[in-house]
Amino acid sequence: MLRIVVCVSGGGTNLQAILDSIDNGTITNAEIAAVISNNANAYALERAREHGIPGICISPKQFENRDNFNTAFLDKVNSYQPDLIVLAGFLVVIPGMMIQEYRNRIINIHPSLIPSFCGKGYYGLKVHEGALNRGVKVTGATVHFVDEGTDTGPIILQHPVMVESEDTPETLQRRVMEQAEWKILPQAIDMIANGRIKVTDGKVVIAG
Ligand code: GRF
Repeated sequence: MLRIVVCVSGGGTNLQAILDSIDNGTITNAEIAAVISNNANAYALERAREHGIPGICISPKQFENRDNFNTAFLDKVNSYQPDLIVLAGFLVVIPGMMIQEYRNRIINIHPSLIPSFCGKGYYGLKVHEGALNRGVKVTGATVHFVDEGTDTGPIILQHPVMVESEDTPETLQRRVMEQAEWKILPQAIDMIANGRIKVTDGKVVIAG
């Protein structure tokens, strides 16, 4: 059974997609041990608690410096003994020591087809503003392993989404969530939970 800790900062629709997928069998061999947020008001924490899952808030604001937060954050994550850490809209920089300790065991959902519209400054609506400003006809979402860079780790899954002529950043964000994020994040978790994902020479190899 794959033990998962999910890290969130906002509304938690990706967390909800994971919860629903475990409940309906789209994800097998996995359980969420805890949901951790830097934002006490994140509705994602409410979604967790409604599901009987511990919803924990730990924020850099609670600590006198970032190093103290990083140590406390890693200790809190470790206390749940996860096999996999899922970043689902988590807006806090992951400490280097956590990336080292959980090499290729931290995944992130990004709302574009990496390497487009990613990296520093590309998060939330800014990703979709970038896509619309460039005039791309196809965008999408990416699930990738987290490494020391920003949105630079090995790519696990991607899914395309058509951009429509009347799109605003908000309408595009919603379509990317509905058509891509909420599908490939649970799919990636199920593949990891069932041993189908390996990283070889920095590239993801999907078995079976
Ligand atoms: C999603 O758009 C995701 O791609 C990005 O942050 C947002 C999180 O939304 N990383 P939610 O909290 O899962 O609703």
